[in-house]
Amino acid sequence: MRIDVVTIFPEYLAPLELSLLGKAQRDGILQIRVHDLREVTTDRHRTVDDTPYGGGAGMVMKPEPWAAALARVCADGPTGQRPVLIIPGPGGERFTQQLARELAQEPWLAFACGRYEGIDERVYAHAADHLRVRTISLGDYVLNGGEVAVLAMVEAMGRLLPGVVGNAESLVEESHEDGLLEYPVYTKPASWTRDGVTREVPPVLLSGDHGAIARWRHAQRLERTAARRPDLLAPAAAVGALADLDAALATPADLPELVVLTRACWVPEAAASGTFDFPPFTDGVPELTASLSEWTTYVWRAAGRLVASIRVRRDPEDDRVWQLGRFMVAPDLQGRGIGQEILTFAESLAPRDVSTIWINTGRVSERNIRIYRKAGFRLAPWDSQVHPATVDLIKSPRSRADKG
Ligand SMILES: C[S@@+](CC[C@H](N)C(=O)[O-])C[C@H]1O[C@@H](n2cnc3c(N)ncnc32)[C@H](O)[C@@H]1O
Repeated sequence: MRIDVVTIFPEYLAPLELSLLGKAQRDGILQIRVHDLREVTTDRHRTVDDTPYGGGAGMVMKPEPWAAALARVCADGPTGQRPVLIIPGPGGERFTQQLARELAQEPWLAFACGRYEGIDERVYAHAADHLRVRTISLGDYVLNGGEVAVLAMVEAMGRLLPGVVGNAESLVEESHEDGLLEYPVYTKPASWTRDGVTREVPPVLLSGDHGAIARWRHAQRLERTAARRPDLLAPAAAVGALADLDAALATPADLPELVVLTRACWVPEAAASGTFDFPPFTDGVPELTASLSEWTTYVWRAAGRLVASIRVRRDPEDDRVWQLGRFMVAPDLQGRGIGQEILTFAESLAPRDVSTIWINTGRVSERNIRIYRKAGFRLAPWDSQVHPATVDLIKSPRSRADKG
């Protein structure tokens, strides 16, 4: 991947030579070129800014040096190729792990670091005539210049490039990879004393029981996310039917209501198949308690009443598959678009490296199959392993563009 950075403080970008990104450059995975904006100025004072039209505090970066600098960057690339231009700014779209993944796919990025009150607005329009331009914000606060934002963005993207982080597995369970924060991590010693206080590593981590460790870590991810970042649970697209509902991660306290909702939602399937002898009816609180540590279960409430739920996870037997399960909307609220939005939300949580989204339903559940087909699923060409009376439906993850 090639990265060009235009700035009036080239030395600000020196840390990109260090650590993993420095090594990635030496290994030829990343090529970073830093350009001094003042090099393209033509006056004696190498002026890049002037007073704002309309008055007001501060200075504004002049358009001509930026146009010249960007032309110079583009002229220096492979014939026919153009970079995606990123202009950092507090008014841009928010930089996220998802955006880092998306941008890490680009072969060539150029960054324009503003200073002062920012860059003359006409530069954005001029650049958009020649390049794809994105204005991206590091967060809802104001920095003095774009350089710190570039350091953060390049580091977040760079570590996703194949070969940059030695153990690619360490990228998989990190915070923000599937909508949850990471579990707490510990190293030696198992028992650590400081200021007269001894703190132990949670015993489960010393047990050698990999299943128990995985369940504990998952429970920790859920607990942390709910406590520290409840906003991550609110679907980004909650502007329609979901906007009126309260989203939360399911906890044991939700289980009695979840059992009732499950029974209510599976009655049509029981009626169609002529039996109540299948897990949505036979599962009780113990089975659902266990499922809370094996799946990430979301619930939605309307005026306090639990009205919808879905659970998601990586398939324990094939981590390229993102499983959705126990997808339900209270019968009296069906047909209002809630289900479609929940499906979209659950799919949006799929880690970037999964290749298939999977869901299972009763062979006789024509309505469900219709809903899933509408959401882009197709019947899998194999017999379901879940139960002979069910079918598997699969689809490819949506591209970011589809998610809107
Ligand atoms: C002092 S800021 C200009 C802020 C601008 N007057 C405004 O209120 O939106 C100068 C430069 O810092 C960078 N910058 C400031 N805050 C940023 C943020 N949250 N994310 C990315 N870049 C930022 C941008 O390059 C911006 O042009």
